[in-house]
Amino acid sequence: MSKSLTEKLSELAKRRGFFFQSSEAYGGVAGFQTFGPEGAELKRNIENSWRETFSDSLGHREIEAPTIMPEPVFEASGHLDTFDDMIIECPECGTSSRADHLVEDNTDIEEAESFSHEQVEALIKEHNLECPSCGEDLSNVAVEDFNLMFETSIGPGSGQTGYLRPETAQGIFVEFPRLKEYARNQLPFGITQIGKAYRNEISPRKGLVRVRELTQAELEHFIDPEEDEPRLEKVEDVELKLYSREQQNAEDGEPQFMTVKEAVEEEVVESDWIAYYLGIAKQWYEEIGVDMERFRFRQHQNDELSHYASDCWDAESQVDGDWIEITGFAYRGCYDLKKHDQYSREDYKIFKEYDEPKTVEKNTVSPDMGYLGPEFGDKAGKIAEKLEEIAENEPEAFEADKVFVEVDGEEYSVPADKCNFSVEEVTENGEHILPHVVEPSFGIDRMVYTVLAHAYDEDEVDDEERTVMRFNEEVAPTEVAVFPLMDKEGLGEKAQEVADKLREEGFSVKYDDTGNIGKRYRRQDEVGTPVCVTIDYETLEDEPETVTVRDRDSTDQERVEISDLADYLA
Ligand code: GLY
Repeated sequence: MSKSLTEKLSELAKRRGFFFQSSEAYGGVAGFQTFGPEGAELKRNIENSWRETFSDSLGHREIEAPTIMPEPVFEASGHLDTFDDMIIECPECGTSSRADHLVEDNTDIEEAESFSHEQVEALIKEHNLECPSCGEDLSNVAVEDFNLMFETSIGPGSGQTGYLRPETAQGIFVEFPRLKEYARNQLPFGITQIGKAYRNEISPRKGLVRVRELTQAELEHFIDPEEDEPRLEKVEDVELKLYSREQQNAEDGEPQFMTVKEAVEEEVVESDWIAYYLGIAKQWYEEIGVDMERFRFRQHQNDELSHYASDCWDAESQVDGDWIEITGFAYRGCYDLKKHDQYSREDYKIFKEYDEPKTVEKNTVSPDMGYLGPEFGDKAGKIAEKLEEIAENEPEAFEADKVFVEVDGEEYSVPADKCNFSVEEVTENGEHILPHVVEPSFGIDRMVYTVLAHAYDEDEVDDEERTVMRFNEEVAPTEVAVFPLMDKEGLGEKAQEVADKLREEGFSVKYDDTGNIGKRYRRQDEVGTPVCVTIDYETLEDEPETVTVRDRDSTDQERVEISDLADYLA
């Protein structure tokens, strides 16, 4: 049986230093992968390209926050309560499995993640699903929640509880009070971050697709939802392949091709901001070598949305027939800033100045503290605060004889005439608003995996099969390989000289003088080096000196003068 792309890629990745299981000398732990020299360079190139496209070119700024954050951050963000996956534990052998994946892997059902526990339990029963380790029947086993955050203790002793961040985004949201100051309180502005995030996955998958330590590249764009518009004209003609919720639910539903402009006009993508970023990202994916034949944007079903998102589109790539989420484009609204505003002691609002001052009617109270103090004791202050809130939100409450307020779980009644409710005209220069957030969030490990899988190719050269990684120059770990035909008679020295010169010109260069020249070409093909330069005896004879330049894809060779080489390669 011929091997799948996943299997071939995994072998190549190990053999050529792209990625491999970490700590294998000690048995390895699932969900942790090491990037070897080629993989680390590829990853760095993808990250740099992302930085250029999503941060520098759009005028956003990048920060670097810690990867460990204290517990209250995640109480506020909702991750402690809701960042769970469905787990089912085998009563016989104790193996834990992700319950929704068990259903997806053993039935025709896709996206079981969006189902409830009860639905997943019913499907496990209906299909008599078994433990993948020991074959025990799981029909009557309960599906539970499992929180994906890694907990840790900060400091000695029992310490303070902390968590390894499950998304880089929280490091941006929490620091918003400082960041808004930096942005001089002017919306819109975008903050980016590339860094590690951690998820204690129940069943990590092979390779880079589902890992427990991952790299994210996230952009949090803070906007005033009433005023700020994206620059759609920059991407309006970019064609998108969109698999909307409606199409996914239709009997013969299919992804549809349309431009960004059409997607917005036909309201297939509701938020202009999301559509804008789909357009920017589609161009970027093409630039770094994602195969558009194996790519789509898919909208989340309502019950699939994360706790913070009101709408979300995923970019998905296909490998061996499986769709992999590589980016989420979420409209997070004011969810995160509102939570941190409520839970922390800082102010997460922005003061939005009006063009002209406005005269508005304002409901106010001036509670009679001479009455409230003796009557309610140490609760008087809180009762007065509650009365102010009621004046703002339910002024009709002051039409009755008594106004009822709840403080610390107890109800108190205050005579309306002791509240001194009135409506006053006041002049306001602006208002405090909570910005909304648009978030493109990229999984860099999965981007690397996609680029590797889509670059992988096999062909025949001189009647021999070869494996070749057809990386775009933008991301190829090495741009040029330089070889002496043999390391003797001055060829090695000349080749080193050429390699040094190209490095000075800014190329990433590999020097290789081991093995026969055919093998050296194959090695470079397997790590996707676009060009190989060979220094041979003709080099030393020619006046001016020349080298052989060989193209990875066509394998064509031509002679180029050394003095023209950098220009030729550029
Ligand atoms: N920040 C989005 C995510 O981590 O999925």
